[in-house]
Amino acid sequence: METLLSLRGVTRSVVLPDDQELHILRGIDLEVFSGDHTAIVGRSGCGKSTLLNLLGLLDVPSSGELEFLGTPVQHIGGNARARLRGSTVGFVFQQFNLLQGRSALDNVMTPLYYAKGRDFWRRRELAMEMLDRVGLAARAGAKPNMMSGGEQQRIAIARALVRRPRLILADEPTGALDVETGQTVMALLDSIATESAAALVTITHDHNVAALARSRYRLDAGVLQAVAEVPA
Ligand SMILES: Nc1ncnc2c1ncn2[C@@H]1O[C@H](COP(=O)(O)OP(=O)(O)O)[C@@H](O)[C@H]1O
Ligand SMILES: [Mg+2]
Repeated sequence: METLLSLRGVTRSVVLPDDQELHILRGIDLEVFSGDHTAIVGRSGCGKSTLLNLLGLLDVPSSGELEFLGTPVQHIGGNARARLRGSTVGFVFQQFNLLQGRSALDNVMTPLYYAKGRDFWRRRELAMEMLDRVGLAARAGAKPNMMSGGEQQRIAIARALVRRPRLILADEPTGALDVETGQTVMALLDSIATESAAALVTITHDHNVAALARSRYRLDAGVLQAVAEVPA
C-alpha cells in the first residue's frame, strides 16, 4: 500500500492583527494510505478546514513534516505544488462551488482543461462517463441552479473525480444537505473512491458520515486523536 500523506508534528499558526499568534493546528500526526477512507470530526472552528488545506497542498505547515507521496512539501515549489494538486487531489466542498452559469457537463469537464494529452482530448467523453457514474447523464446540459442540493453535490463529486485523483478531500460534503440526501451522496462518494482505489478523507461534524469511514479521528482545538468508536 502506498503512503499518500504522512504528517509528523504538523502545526499551523497565523499572526492576528494585534500581533498575537493563533495556534490553529498543534502537532498533527497522520498517515493516509491509498484506498484509505478516513473521517475527521470536530466542532466548528477547531481547525478542520485548515488541516484539509494542508492535506490538499493549498497551504504549507508552519512547522513539522508533511510528506506528499514521499516528498516533503517544503521541497515542492508553488507551481509544482499546484500541478501536483491538479493531477492528484480532488476536492468536494460543503457549498458545491459549481460554476452556476455553465452546464453540468461544462462543470465536470473544467479540471480536464488542465490535463495533458489523451485526457484533455477525451474531456467530453470522460466528463460524460463521470456524470453517468453519479446518475446525472440525462442532466448534462442543465445548469446547477436548476438542480437540487443533492444533484449539485453529485455534479461536484463527478468534477472532483474526473481526473481520477489518488486523494479525495471532502470538507463537510453533506453540510448543506438533508440527512437522507447526505447519506446517499456519501455512499456514492465512498463507492466511487473504492472503485478507483483513491484515498478519501472526509471532514465532517456528522457522526453518521464519520461512521462510514474505516479510520476515524477527532480534531479538538487543533489536536488530532484517533477514535476507536464513534459515539451513537
Ligand atoms: N487565516 C486566518 N487568520 C486568522 N484566523 C484564522 C485563519 N484561518 C483560520 N482561522 C481561525 O482558526 C480557527 C480554525 O479555522 P478552520 O480551520 O476554518 O475551522 P473549522 O473548519 O474546523 O471550522 C477558527 O477560529 C478560524 O477563525
Ligand atoms: Mg471548516
